[in-house]
Amino acid sequence: MLTRAIFISYLAAACCATPLVRSMQVHEARESIPEGFVHSGSAPQDTVLNLRLALVQSDPAGLEKALMDVSTPSSALYGQHLSKEEIFVAPSPDSVVAVHSWLADNDIEAKTISPAGDWLSFAIPVSKANVLLDTEFSVFTHEETGKTSIRTLAYSIPADLKGHIDLVHPTITFPNPFARLPAMVMPPKVKPAVNITSDAVPASCSSTITPACLQVLYGIPTTPAKVSSNQLGVSGFIEQFANEADLKTFLTDFRPDIPSTTTFMLQTLDGGENPQIQTKLASKRILTFNIPSVSPLKCPQSSYLWVLTTSYGQNENTISRSLANNLCNAYAQLGARGTSILFASGDGGVAGSQTTRCTTFLPTFPSGCPFMTSVGATNGVPETSASFSSGGFSNFFAQPSYQSSAVSSYLTALGNTNSGKFNRSGRAFPDVSAQGNNIEIVVGGGTGLVVGTSCSSPIFASVVALLNDGLATAGKPLLGFLNLFLYSTGALALNDITTGNNPGCNTNGFPARARWDPVTGLGTPNFSKLKTAVGL
Ligand SMILES: *[C@@H]1O[C@H](CO)[C@@H](O)[C@H](O)[C@H]1NC(C)=O
Ligand SMILES: *[C@@H]1O[C@H](CO)[C@@H](O)[C@H](O)[C@H]1NC(C)=O
Ligand SMILES: *[C@@H]1O[C@H](CO)[C@@H](O)[C@H](O)[C@H]1NC(C)=O
Repeated sequence: MLTRAIFISYLAAACCATPLVRSMQVHEARESIPEGFVHSGSAPQDTVLNLRLALVQSDPAGLEKALMDVSTPSSALYGQHLSKEEIFVAPSPDSVVAVHSWLADNDIEAKTISPAGDWLSFAIPVSKANVLLDTEFSVFTHEETGKTSIRTLAYSIPADLKGHIDLVHPTITFPNPFARLPAMVMPPKVKPAVNITSDAVPASCSSTITPACLQVLYGIPTTPAKVSSNQLGVSGFIEQFANEADLKTFLTDFRPDIPSTTTFMLQTLDGGENPQIQTKLASKRILTFNIPSVSPLKCPQSSYLWVLTTSYGQNENTISRSLANNLCNAYAQLGARGTSILFASGDGGVAGSQTTRCTTFLPTFPSGCPFMTSVGATNGVPETSASFSSGGFSNFFAQPSYQSSAVSSYLTALGNTNSGKFNRSGRAFPDVSAQGNNIEIVVGGGTGLVVGTSCSSPIFASVVALLNDGLATAGKPLLGFLNLFLYSTGALALNDITTGNNPGCNTNGFPARARWDPVTGLGTPNFSKLKTAVGL
């Protein structure tokens, strides 16, 4: 009987030129359109969608364990970062075969776009995507900005591919409507501090933050890094890029002690470019904060970044859980490799990424991911928390054990304040902070002051890069994923910021307090204390 049944089903499969109708199953859905967007009709059938498909990765639990082992200062494996080959992400060969054969049945040829083979890409018209994913792509308009995007509220995959497909993007993840060019705000208020003459913080630093201010405020040495493989990555998206002429002006004006010919290396990926021409400047105050559309792991270089800072993100509720998890695992991979990953926490206080309407607090992504370091902002001298500094609690990611003691102390002291407006059991952020108000920059040939955690993350990242330089010179392992260090031996090496709050959603937000708080995290760097804490 068994033989015959198999034989018949084989014949049935072989006889038909058209693929068998497969049973479809909803794979991802969102309950509602994210706040601020409205549905404005079906998507034009012939619009071509560039779809990305992520295959299920092989061993996320193994990856997490490896990350924790190499990042916990008291662990025997501390600092023993993994090689690219040792990282657990390649999908199983079964998944690769099953998914490619499904796509081939639909006359779709997909390109593999990540080294581990876990991301595929293909372009198909809306009409075909609607059938393939048993969905209806629609046009959604963001009311405040008028920006439109083609998305859906749910999509399906063949039931037999569950366990092979992680997600298809862009589907239910909505874009950050506030993505825009960098804003040059105000002209410098005072003559900025350039050369350090004493340990005292120059008076001008109260209203204009320059590298010299940061050097005095945080005790950052002026001596350059020594190790040539020490790379600090600064990612740029949405028409924002590093500009050679601006860097030269900045170095000439604000770091006269180092050659103005100092430059950067460029690594473009996923169709990115760096045209060196800044088209226009937006008028808003706050630096753009937007989600990376690809994982940094796609970076093809064989050497790896020691530190990577990113100033882009968006509200967690606009992103699919699968995508959030997938990107968060990518940061875990980089951390296991030895890269310190830092992100700006967001510029809308408890309202997240610049949202004007909210009833409950809006955590930002990727700050809710427990495998990266989220950086909030401080303001002024002496430092207080910056009111725009986003902080709070993820609704997607549970609170990791490395921060549970710090966070529960805070929550106990907080009492019933903001009760019901945030998720007490979520991953809490930011982890640390740095100056983010009135930061002197050069962009588009002009010099001026900007505001945002987009400034704080690279400032903290530069401190990490200098600590790594000392560690590498001493033959010691790099810091890699920072949080287990920060919440243990690192905590006392930070300046605790205890005043201010981060209002939003018609509340005063969270108050900063002694030790960890969801405005400034554990605090800002004290370089000499950090040096001792990392064993230098
Ligand atoms: C800062 O020091 C450099 C030499 O190190 C000097 O050329 C420059 O004029 C000084 N700038 C200011 C504003 O004092
Ligand atoms: C860092 O901490 C040490 C020890 O408490 C202190 O003496 C020093 O002034 C601090 N450095 C800065 C720049 O605040
Ligand atoms: C709160 O966070 C927990 C832990 O991550 C999560 O399981 C739960 O769904 C979240 N609650 C809400 C209402 O989002």
